[in-house]
Amino acid sequence: MKIQICGMEWKNPVTTAAGTFNARESGRRYDITALGAVTTKGVAPEPWPGNPLPRIAETYGGMLNSVGLENPGVEAFIAGELAELKARGVTVIANVAGHSEAEFCAVVERLDETAVDMLEINVSCPNLYEGGAVFGADEAAVAKLTRKLKRLTGKPVMIKLSPNVTDIVRIAEAAEAAGADALSLINTLVGMRIDLRTGRPVLANGTGGLSGPAVKPVAVAMVYRVCSRVKIPVIGMGGIMTGGDAYEFLLAGATAVAVGTAALLDPEAPVRIVHELAECYEQYGDPHKRKVV
Ligand SMILES: Cc1cc2nc3c(=O)[nH]c(=O)nc-3n(C[C@H](O)[C@H](O)[C@H](O)COP(=O)(O)O)c2cc1C
Repeated sequence: MKIQICGMEWKNPVTTAAGTFNARESGRRYDITALGAVTTKGVAPEPWPGNPLPRIAETYGGMLNSVGLENPGVEAFIAGELAELKARGVTVIANVAGHSEAEFCAVVERLDETAVDMLEINVSCPNLYEGGAVFGADEAAVAKLTRKLKRLTGKPVMIKLSPNVTDIVRIAEAAEAAGADALSLINTLVGMRIDLRTGRPVLANGTGGLSGPAVKPVAVAMVYRVCSRVKIPVIGMGGIMTGGDAYEFLLAGATAVAVGTAALLDPEAPVRIVHELAECYEQYGDPHKRKVV
């Protein structure tokens, strides 16, 4: 199941999805070096407190979260999570958050000096400096940011695309043309639940991001469409619960996959999915050599 991606070799095509993995907690449950790579939670230049509680709600076949990218800031990340992962010899994709180009640049410049293997840029954050629209919904903003970041680092830059757009293929093509080394998709879909008794949104933030098996067919379709239009590698995610789900994303054209919400339900899901995916390879062959017909 070995893959080559952005100059790296991974022992298998499975990583974790940002925000659903923690070195210490996951490391207690399974051998995290059994994964192809791990992807860490979004990190900003300074600590962010995240959104008020409640910020998690269950849905049919999934969940809503409005965690709001709570994180300890890049320095604490480097000294803590990153040091721990690198001491174990894990390939690390660092997920980067920012409210402005300057914030993304600051994190990328700082992480360029570390042993991080790849940078995943979460362009789903609202651009507070330009009216609050999400970067990922604006192809010109994505292209401009990608070009800037590429000048700041020699590490592979992967742009994580939001599904909350009119045409995800256009954003993907803009990122590729601007020099992105890889793309990852999908981030969560905007969703909402309302409490019948109070008439108020269940999440304190009003809306949140929908993830889990309910979003998988949407994610597979988006990965399939993007992969048929770009040449750079794609990491596919959205509702992967089993090795068969992961195999489906690889058939759709993804080079690798990420496991997110499944790990919140079953902390060992990422490593279980590696084993189940190996069985799919045995049964159906190498998905990268097959075509959807
Ligand atoms: C609790 C939670 C926190 C998340 N935090 C981040 C984050 O920090 N950065 C990011 O790019 N995506 C974040 N995501 C999105 C996931 O990485 C993933 O793109 C999405 O959940 C779809 O995959 P899944 O259905 O397997 O969870 C988060 C998702 C959840 C459920």
